[in-house]
Amino acid sequence: MYYKKLVGKKCYLSPIDLNDAEKFTEWLNDLEVTTNLGPLYSGIINVEGEKEILKDLSQKHNYSIIDIETNELIGNCGFLEIDNVNQIAEIGIFIGNKKFWGKGYGTEALVLLIDYGFKALNLHNILLKVFSFNERAMKCYEKVGFKIIGKRREALNRGDKKFDAIFMDILYDEFYKKK
Ligand SMILES: CC(C)(COP(=O)(O)OP(=O)(O)OC[C@H]1O[C@@H](n2cnc3c(N)ncnc32)[C@H](O)[C@@H]1OP(=O)(O)O)[C@@H](O)C(=O)NCCC(=O)NCCS
Repeated sequence: MYYKKLVGKKCYLSPIDLNDAEKFTEWLNDLEVTTNLGPLYSGIINVEGEKEILKDLSQKHNYSIIDIETNELIGNCGFLEIDNVNQIAEIGIFIGNKKFWGKGYGTEALVLLIDYGFKALNLHNILLKVFSFNERAMKCYEKVGFKIIGKRREALNRGDKKFDAIFMDILYDEFYKKK
């Protein structure tokens, strides 16, 4: 069951339904998806493990992304770590249903989540990490307003190649275009 917690035009963000563990497991065994997600690419994800992961994530401001027209689950996004003292957090997102890539869903889901993070969770700075080959993701993050702040060089192995991990962040004022 999904609930319209944060609602956009294309999608809404709902608390995670633990019954979706099988669908998430299917996506997290798709190397075309997980190549973008760091250690998940070389990890082992089965339904039992995924249920535990979802149980944990569901308590930590992680949300399912649901297509607003069909109420179909398409992915997940949320805060990986929240540091309330310094008002900072790291964010992550993946759309597992590849039919929905490149159609604006990721941008909208992030705008909903970040607005919630700044206004409801009282955050000031939000960080994310993306690998240098992931042009679609970087374009999406730039549209939201993230800026590149640095990179860790050659931090990811894919086959015989090494890629940089790029760090991007956004401040409250930048998101609301006050600066
Ligand atoms: C990254 C992700 C969340 C982005 O969401 P999305 O809905 O696909 O992205 P959007 O459509 O909102 O924005 C992507 C932009 O990149 C463009 N784009 C699409 N494919 C591209 C490609 N191969 N190279 C460059 N740009 C591309 C799109 O045209 C769009 O820009 P536009 O609106 O100016 O046309 C989603 O693609 C995804 O989950 N991918 C797999 C997992 C992943 O990479 N997660 C992020 C890990 S850091």
